[in-house]
Amino acid sequence: MVFTPKYLAAFAGLSFASAAVLDERAPDPCATIAGQKWVAPKDVRACYSSIKVDEALKSNIIEVVNKTLAFHASTNYQIQAPAPFDKDVHEDIVATLARIKNQKYKSDYDLHIDLSRSFKRLNDGHVVWINRCYYSYLTFSQAAFVNYLPIPLSLLSAPDGTQNVHISPEAFTVASAEFPDQIQFWQDSLGPLYKGKLESFSGAKVLLINGLPPFNAVDANAKIIGSYQAQTTRQNGFFSSYQATASGWTYIMGNFAQQSLPLDDYVFLTVQRTNHLIPEVVRIPYRSRMGASTKAFTDVKSYIANNCVAVPATNGKDVYGASVSSFSADAEPESPVAEFQQQAPVPAKVARKHPINVILDSSPLSDVVLPPTLVPSLPAVPGSRNAAQFYLLKDKKTGVLALGSFSDSDYNAFLDSLLSGLVSLKSQGATQLVVDVTNNGGGFVCAAHWLHRIIVGPKSTTTPQAGLDTQARNGPLAQLIVKEIIKNNLDPDVELLYNPLQWTNANHQPFGASDDWLQPPVPKTINGKADAFSQRLGQECQPNGFPANIPDTALFDPKKVVIVSNGRYVTTT
Ligand SMILES: *[C@@H]1O[C@H](CO)[C@@H](O)[C@H](O)[C@H]1NC(C)=O
Repeated sequence: MVFTPKYLAAFAGLSFASAAVLDERAPDPCATIAGQKWVAPKDVRACYSSIKVDEALKSNIIEVVNKTLAFHASTNYQIQAPAPFDKDVHEDIVATLARIKNQKYKSDYDLHIDLSRSFKRLNDGHVVWINRCYYSYLTFSQAAFVNYLPIPLSLLSAPDGTQNVHISPEAFTVASAEFPDQIQFWQDSLGPLYKGKLESFSGAKVLLINGLPPFNAVDANAKIIGSYQAQTTRQNGFFSSYQATASGWTYIMGNFAQQSLPLDDYVFLTVQRTNHLIPEVVRIPYRSRMGASTKAFTDVKSYIANNCVAVPATNGKDVYGASVSSFSADAEPESPVAEFQQQAPVPAKVARKHPINVILDSSPLSDVVLPPTLVPSLPAVPGSRNAAQFYLLKDKKTGVLALGSFSDSDYNAFLDSLLSGLVSLKSQGATQLVVDVTNNGGGFVCAAHWLHRIIVGPKSTTTPQAGLDTQARNGPLAQLIVKEIIKNNLDPDVELLYNPLQWTNANHQPFGASDDWLQPPVPKTINGKADAFSQRLGQECQPNGFPANIPDTALFDPKKVVIVSNGRYVTTT
């Protein structure tokens, strides 16, 4: 994906407290799941569905969301994307919000699903809808209850080159390590034929999912999962995968085995187990696990009070105001962007002054450890640091950079490590390079530019920076913010993205503190709708964003560099 970085980097996502009120007449469905770690998905649904819509809150939320769309989102483009994404992106979200405003819902949960899926249909990783009633307060990406199966799926290649859906060969190892307190429940729930034999399904070829070809389920998930324009990338999210993170290699279960809402109760799989000829049908239940930061409750009323109601920091904070820590337990991390695992480790406050571009993926947070058999056995080459790990393959000529994130707690140390890791690989004999950005959710825009620049050397496409044509979105709210910052000197510490001092013009000259860099807007008509952008803006990474020890020549022949991934990554070049 190619993004114009700054206006997208700015969009930190919206979160809203739920439009929730209590239905006094119903018996209490949330009491059924209160105080338990593992519950049946249908009981979570019953709790969620007992929360009624508060019409006044619903209308406020829709009004605010609607007004923010022109701020950072690409909604006019998304009405009908051009080829090759014309089949994938065709959602008029403004029209959809008008429909939702007038529609009546049985419950707040039904409203949430409609809103959530509507925003997901934008297939835009920078626009998300997250409702704190169903997602944890402290971590956007963690659902209040996460729905699990102990059998993640993989696409495996047969010797003849065909690809087939399988239960991941490592499924039982992962599930018994991650769910030690639930694995027996699953063992006992497989029916008389397979009771206690969960492990024998690891690696099995999946012939049907709920009686239909597996890709029916893959495609159904791709329709509702959002975040990525390309259908194939959304298909990949169904399967298990891995990510290099600062704390080691993480296993990602995939959307089949891990759902952020209690959508399914069980799955029927028709499988061919390893060393078996005859297809067999097994029913495996989903189980819902309470999220680590879901607040305790005893009934619907306390569920809403503790998990759904807005707190002062729910929608951001005043960077010059009182410290958020005064909100104690309800305090939210300093920057909403910093909450997303995809850019872990969370950058320090100073480092965050560098532009950041991350995917706001509301898939459940993964803290599942990659089984030892799947972890690279080669030693990491010097220079490796956090989510950037370097290896020299046994052929002694292929270097690998496993780069699970463009983020780091220390921007300068991170950029230095990228250079020293590549130099180490070269000094050990590497003449060709594999850069693996699987599940890299983004991070520092200038770290990506730096990596590109040091690999391929100084060229017209890398100096002063990779050929980005940066313009900011120029909606009415953005224009008002810039005017206010200038008129009232609102941002003496240069904390705000819209401060003119954060930007340079097309000739890479910095704007002055009182230059209204959004004036005059450059009008554009997109899908028949009036839209507006800023003037062309200059590069943001040099001279201040790059270390001084920038090499004069390319480290690798660009023809000998390949980038591999599952499509699920954010790039800026
Ligand atoms: C959303 O905002 C547009 C103006 O940008 C307005 O025409 C429309 O009525 C609003 N929709 C809702 C549902 O408030």
